[in-house]
Amino acid sequence: MLLCLFIMYDLCTRVPAAHNCMRAVEGFQDRLSHVIREELVRKKTQYDATLPIIYVITPTYKRLEQIPELTRLGQTLMNVPNIHWIVADDATETNPEVIEYLDFCGIPHTYLLTPMPKKYKNQTKAKPKGVANRNGGLKWVREHATEGVVYFADDDNAYDIRLFTEIRYTKRVSMFPVGLVTGFGLSSPVLKDGKFSTWYDGWIGGRKFPVDMAGFAVNVQYLLQVKDAFMPYAPGYEEDGFLKKLKIEPEELEFLAEGCTKIYVWHTQTKKNKPSDNKILESKFDGTNLRHLQQVMTIDPTIKKKKT
Ligand code: UGA
Ligand code: MN
Repeated sequence: MLLCLFIMYDLCTRVPAAHNCMRAVEGFQDRLSHVIREELVRKKTQYDATLPIIYVITPTYKRLEQIPELTRLGQTLMNVPNIHWIVADDATETNPEVIEYLDFCGIPHTYLLTPMPKKYKNQTKAKPKGVANRNGGLKWVREHATEGVVYFADDDNAYDIRLFTEIRYTKRVSMFPVGLVTGFGLSSPVLKDGKFSTWYDGWIGGRKFPVDMAGFAVNVQYLLQVKDAFMPYAPGYEEDGFLKKLKIEPEELEFLAEGCTKIYVWHTQTKKNKPSDNKILESKFDGTNLRHLQQVMTIDPTIKKKKT
């Protein structure tokens, strides 16, 4: 690419009539050098051998909001050093859009296909969302990691980068508040004089650990000691089932985020969008940029039919 630019630049400077072309090349060169400089600086800050690695396991599935959600989370993680991002897709086929986006982020990552078993997918009652994905991620960690920390980060939450500084040094299991959970607006351990007292969560449901998936992190060495710690296919009881398997008592947890006084993660939920109408197909847009944008859109097939 650079050689090509150089030849073009050389040619343009020799032919006086090609001044416009030269200006265009200079503009392009300028943009390219900005992009390269920015990428080099960013990549330099992404790894430091002295920091433990955080294995972020993110369940995801194909829908209109998938790439927007991964964009938000990915660009948060791009600001955090020593991350290994395990993106576990509830799908039987790889999604090229996801792969392309992960490559762009430049974060060390692993893309897994972890479909929800058919018997759960077809059930009408509440489905165990993200369970096959998280178990696939845990299996990968067990097979590839020896130390560091595991964190389950759903693709639709909002994360403050300070969360990762907090959880990176988890010795066994750490916990911290999660905002916007249930009608209570918050899920958090309740501490009195710095010690565990009880739980604050809008739905206790007989759980020993009434916490949100985003509200805890686990040390890898500790996880490896507990052989059968996987997540149950039990909607609402995934966190509790997994944490019980970790053989830890509430009093033994490490409470982060300044003694659970700060919120660094929120259970934001994204509004579901409808497929778009077919305005973009109108012939007046032929030969324009909209034909490119159309490729990444989902147009409602019933509307499309009516037009033809
Ligand atoms: C809530 C909790 O925050 C989750 O931690 C918990 O797993 C879930 O309920 C549950 O108990 O079922 P909620 O916001 O209701 O989460 O669920 P989603 O955000 O829709 O799904 C959780 C994760 O699973 C997301 O990362 C999502 O991308 C993924 N997912 C969802 C799938 O992989 N497949 C699906 O069919 C649906
Ligand atoms: Mn969610």
